[in-house]
Amino acid sequence: MTALKNDRFLRALLKQPVDVTPVWMMRQAGRYLPEYRASRQKAGDFMSLCRNPELACEVTLQPLDRYPLDAAILFSDILTVPDAMGLGLYFETGEGPRFRKAVDSRAAIEALPIPDAEQDLGYVMEAVRTIRRELNGRVPLIGFSGSPWTLATYMVEGGSSKDFRKSKALLYDNPQAMHLLLDKLAQAVTSYLNGQIRAGAQAVQIFDTWGGSLSDAAYREFSLAYMERIVAGLTRENDGRPVPVILFTKNGGLWLEAMAASGADALGLDWTCDIRNARERVGDKVALQGNMDPTVLYANPQAIRAEVGRILERYGKGSGHVFNLGHGITPEVDPAHAGVFIEAVHELSARYH
Ligand code: CP3
Repeated sequence: MTALKNDRFLRALLKQPVDVTPVWMMRQAGRYLPEYRASRQKAGDFMSLCRNPELACEVTLQPLDRYPLDAAILFSDILTVPDAMGLGLYFETGEGPRFRKAVDSRAAIEALPIPDAEQDLGYVMEAVRTIRRELNGRVPLIGFSGSPWTLATYMVEGGSSKDFRKSKALLYDNPQAMHLLLDKLAQAVTSYLNGQIRAGAQAVQIFDTWGGSLSDAAYREFSLAYMERIVAGLTRENDGRPVPVILFTKNGGLWLEAMAASGADALGLDWTCDIRNARERVGDKVALQGNMDPTVLYANPQAIRAEVGRILERYGKGSGHVFNLGHGITPEVDPAHAGVFIEAVHELSARYH
């Protein structure tokens, strides 16, 4: 395999020295970019874009052609796993994801198959191989999956939800059934991420978007415990290099110590935490990724630079920080503002290294 030309993202995740703080953006390939909208139109719809490795590769590289980003992230979706379990994922324009079949009983959970990464999600593995080839060592490629709890919410609700009425009712009515579902998802996610690593992913991130909706006790039992199981089951090496694992629980600030003990290499932070306080709490155990409020990108360039500078100052000197937004970039952001953000991270961080 080609040697990496820019490895500061991987180095920061392992707390090795870097010249400047690396940066990437969650949802960096997305609707705020006109070239993304054009590719999606060419594909027909979002899922056709995900299922076509050449087009998935094309959109993965679009933000890298515009900005000096330090990592690429596989273009796909977390809901490909439940789709491969037979639920029939589709996207209604402007309405978010939906499943043709929701998981609404213990019998439905028992009947769920555990997908095989190569056979049932081969289009994702092919996208990873294609992107690695086309990246040609420019920057590392991040693979990803949803957390079992986050995937379970979509599967039980049949789509997005504001209050998680059905999934939380199931958790409290029939915790054993919920555990059976989470156990199946943990197996599916472990094999899916290991497949991505075999195909060439150089780091992986677990998106626990909805872990922060749970009580303290329920988070530990129904979300974190399954992410720990996944982390323990991952092949953490590729091509003779460690493959770092990043855990991102949105609204997870309460649980940083517990997450730092999960075996992951790094934690993703949303913007509600102070990154200096987070650094003190996790100590040497993990690196941190985050944590600018994505809505700062609606503000003027000077305000964006000021906020980048403030977060860099809060983290302080030394490696172990990957700059990112605290959640995905939104469709309304001006692409020029994303550019200001990325350049500010590189420019203003040099003095901390
Ligand atoms: O970060 C990246 O650039 C990689 C691609 C990526 C997408 N989704 C592409 C996408 C990643 C990592 C995801 C993860 C994902 N998907 C999560 C976890 C992270 C998070 O944002 O909290 C979740 C919860 C999903 C499920 C999902 N997919 C939803 C709720 C939606 C609709 C949201 C919306 O903004 O309309 C999607 C669709 C989706 N996934 C889009 C993209 C670029 C927009 C689809 C489009 O082009 O219309």
